[in-house]
Amino acid sequence: MLNIALPKGRLGEKVYAMFEAAGFPCPSILENSRKLIFENPEAGVRYFWVKPSDVAIYVERGAADIGVAGKDILLEYEPDIYELVDLGVGKCRMAVAAPKGFVDTGLRTLRVATKFSRIAQNHYTAVGRDIELIHLNGSIEIAPILGLSDVIVDIVETGTTLRENNLEVIEEIVPISARFISNKASFRFHRGEIEKMASYLLREAGR
Ligand code: PRP
Repeated sequence: MLNIALPKGRLGEKVYAMFEAAGFPCPSILENSRKLIFENPEAGVRYFWVKPSDVAIYVERGAADIGVAGKDILLEYEPDIYELVDLGVGKCRMAVAAPKGFVDTGLRTLRVATKFSRIAQNHYTAVGRDIELIHLNGSIEIAPILGLSDVIVDIVETGTTLRENNLEVIEEIVPISARFISNKASFRFHRGEIEKMASYLLREAGR
């Protein structure tokens, strides 16, 4: 049986539907309960719901053979896993945003608030800009409004959060979407099954 870590929440439900359509159903998962683990021995799958930002940890450490994680998490934590398929769902972008009208004169160190410190640091290192990182855990949009930072690096999906807080995107860093990932040892032991699943999911992603 393959152990599969799915991101709990709306994205996870969409992703489960893709696994089901790809031929790996587990009807009990749709029952509205507080349970976190569901299995269907006939289909050879055991699913569990975990916090989206934790999926890569389960997969990297082998508690899950495979799973689905956002590209943002993969770029931020660089887990030692295989990234197999871009599922084309959970699409958003990682961007730099600032209060409307902000111009970076480049004259002093730029204060950057973010939950994604590695992504932000890599971005500014690549463009050769000195920054001071301010690591926050959520509600990042407040930081520049209160003068805690000059800009933020965060996920933008619809843009509503930025708009409602008088912020705007000043730079796109990278597009984000959900990725099908595998533990490295599991991939060696179950290569046939995992590759079959990857190819069926790729077909679902193209629909
Ligand atoms: C993300 C992100 C933005 C928001 C963007 O937050 O940090 O705040 O979504 O979406 P929008 O462009 O559609 O408005 P999330 O809901 O993941 O919560 P958190 O960052 O506060 O943990």
